[in-house]
Amino acid sequence: MAVSIPQPIKNGHSCADAVRLLELAKSIAAKAQEVVEGLQQQGLPQPSLGPDGSSPDFIPVLDTRLQEVRRSLVSDARLLADTFTGTRKLIDEQLQFSVHTITVMRILYTFNIPKHVPLDAAISFADVAQSCGLEESRLTRILRYLILNHIFEEPEPGKIAHSAISKFLLSNDAVGMDFIGHMLEEALPSAIGQTDCLKNPPLHSSPVLDCGFAVAVGHSKSSYFDVMAQEPERTKRFGRAMTHMTSSGGHNSIERVLTSYDWAGLGHAKVVDVGGSVGHVAVDLLKYVPALKKVIVQDLPEVIEDARANPIPQVADVADRLEFQGYNFFDPQPIQDADVYLFRHVFHDWPNQKAEEIIRNVVPSMRSGSILIVVEYILYPTGEDDSYSAKMARTADMQMMVLLNAKERSLTDWKELLDIASGGSLAFEQAKGNVLVFRKK
Ligand SMILES: C[S@@+](CC[C@H](N)C(=O)[O-])C[C@H]1O[C@@H](n2cnc3c(N)ncnc32)[C@H](O)[C@@H]1O
Repeated sequence: MAVSIPQPIKNGHSCADAVRLLELAKSIAAKAQEVVEGLQQQGLPQPSLGPDGSSPDFIPVLDTRLQEVRRSLVSDARLLADTFTGTRKLIDEQLQFSVHTITVMRILYTFNIPKHVPLDAAISFADVAQSCGLEESRLTRILRYLILNHIFEEPEPGKIAHSAISKFLLSNDAVGMDFIGHMLEEALPSAIGQTDCLKNPPLHSSPVLDCGFAVAVGHSKSSYFDVMAQEPERTKRFGRAMTHMTSSGGHNSIERVLTSYDWAGLGHAKVVDVGGSVGHVAVDLLKYVPALKKVIVQDLPEVIEDARANPIPQVADVADRLEFQGYNFFDPQPIQDADVYLFRHVFHDWPNQKAEEIIRNVVPSMRSGSILIVVEYILYPTGEDDSYSAKMARTADMQMMVLLNAKERSLTDWKELLDIASGGSLAFEQAKGNVLVFRKK
């Protein structure tokens, strides 16, 4: 019989005394035991970062209990590690590690280092250097830093081999590499530009240009999505980065979408996935909810063109119930007979004024009784959620700020946004996990 999951220490709370520290350590051990035993009972491999490590999604997507215990364990383990690192060292270390993780990850991405290491054999540092066209002595230092981040292994001195993570980056149609590219080529310059944006606010009238991204691309008059639209390679990379985030477990995963709403209860429903990118969420919905009649994925024409030209691998399994449609959500919604209009990680890309416009374009096409589903992070006041969840949501909030002058929102913000934009015609129905449901009156 399942016992209740010991709650992680809440975000913003600290471990002030010996008893609480030891309780925290014991709770971590109990949670680790539950995950290990849960995997054993299902005959699944244990998590491992070694060369033959388990898949990145080592817990089955729909095993809500184990997923929750894993999240809680990570939250507590990070708090314990931070506490023992100590006041004096924590910030120094976090900054040093982050900055130089960026140094080596950008080199890994730019020179596509995983491709230069054979899949099942070790190779000398000298040979990798030659294959990448890089100087051996510096590449060796870079590789040794990557090894500390569990990317590659050094099975014998001077030789490098794949770890589970570097193998993963090589496989899976390289969507993991695309996420790295998105973070380092788009988010990083925008993050640096954000300070200048605050110091010298831009003179543009459009709110979407008041962000680090616009500064990073030379006080551009084009927003992030405008720039993307002009550069097909970046559009493709972004689509694949989104696919990676959805499929890699944790807060952003499809598992949370599937388990936070009774999708099967919708029956033979027609769903429109607005801003659905290359269809990664639609494919999983169709796979895990066989009752659904159809999902129509709408996105900008260039994204849909890419989705059709380079279908993600699982499309073939659900092709008879999946459709793509080029559509700009700043125009009126053309589909009027759907049961569900799904917006996953769409509104968080826009400041209120623009998000309201998108909502105003869908509401008139909704028939009475149809639903609008929002899937987003929900921000809670400090101290009301665990530190891991808070960190994920607040990191996404920073990402939105620097790329788009957009934001994550609290439950109250979401209800207000939908209510104001729909002129009161959408009734809030429920919020669970990261899924919010509004029904057309
Ligand atoms: C953050 S991504 C979310 C993708 C997907 N819904 C998910 O959950 O992974 C936002 C999506 O909105 C799309 N988008 C941006 N502007 C758009 C517009 N004007 N009309 C339609 N889609 C747009 C982007 O191309 C991108 O696929």
